[in-house]
Amino acid sequence: MDAREMKIKAAEAALAHVESGMRLGIGTGSTAEEFVRLLAEKVAQGFKVEGVPTSERTARLCVELGVPLKSLDELPQLDLTIDGADELDVALRLIKGGGGALLREKIVAAASERMIVIADESKLVQTLGAFALPIEVNQFGLVATRIAIEKVASKLGLTGALSLRKSEDGNFMTDGGHYIVDASFGRIPDAEALSNELNAIPGVVEHGLFLNMATLAIIAGPAGARTLQA
Ligand code: A5P
Repeated sequence: MDAREMKIKAAEAALAHVESGMRLGIGTGSTAEEFVRLLAEKVAQGFKVEGVPTSERTARLCVELGVPLKSLDELPQLDLTIDGADELDVALRLIKGGGGALLREKIVAAASERMIVIADESKLVQTLGAFALPIEVNQFGLVATRIAIEKVASKLGLTGALSLRKSEDGNFMTDGGHYIVDASFGRIPDAEALSNELNAIPGVVEHGLFLNMATLAIIAGPAGARTLQA
């Protein structure tokens, strides 16, 4: 089973948790897109859902495939969000934002009663941090914000480079018009402390540590999908 097949397996298992009539948060990334494709097939058969997309990219795919969408302001309370992750541990702490959608992903997940994470087993780690932590920052005061992040990292004994994410035509820009700094900490032993410290930096708009948000993870491997409960 290749990585794409595992993503489809996880997405299929997540679809079993979706009931007709639900208000759904719809994630971003290649795994979430497999879920959108499967959901669209059910919608075409008459299944009723309303989705709030976590990115412009996901919104475009949903529109293309006929999944009905609302804005979060129209549907501010959601039953369930289904999203991928860049890394997760057994306590269902996540790193997200590899696709740059972390801010809307976190806002949508926080507005949801439940969040199911779907991933192939390569995403499951013992300690978060091998994947560089995406930190969304305001364009104003970028240098000062970087220095503040470095100070926090050094206070927590974290080393590793910060790098400003680039795109083909300059600095990568999020849907909200911010930049992303990717922090290669290597290993984050105290994700809660790091999250609190980053939240206290004014120029940090949001960061990719999702703690106490996922209620269930569906992890697919060659032998099928298994679940991890928060
Ligand atoms: C998007 O910003 C991310 O949080 C994605 O959810 C994450 O990068 C997982 O993406 P894949 O499913 O493509 O690995």
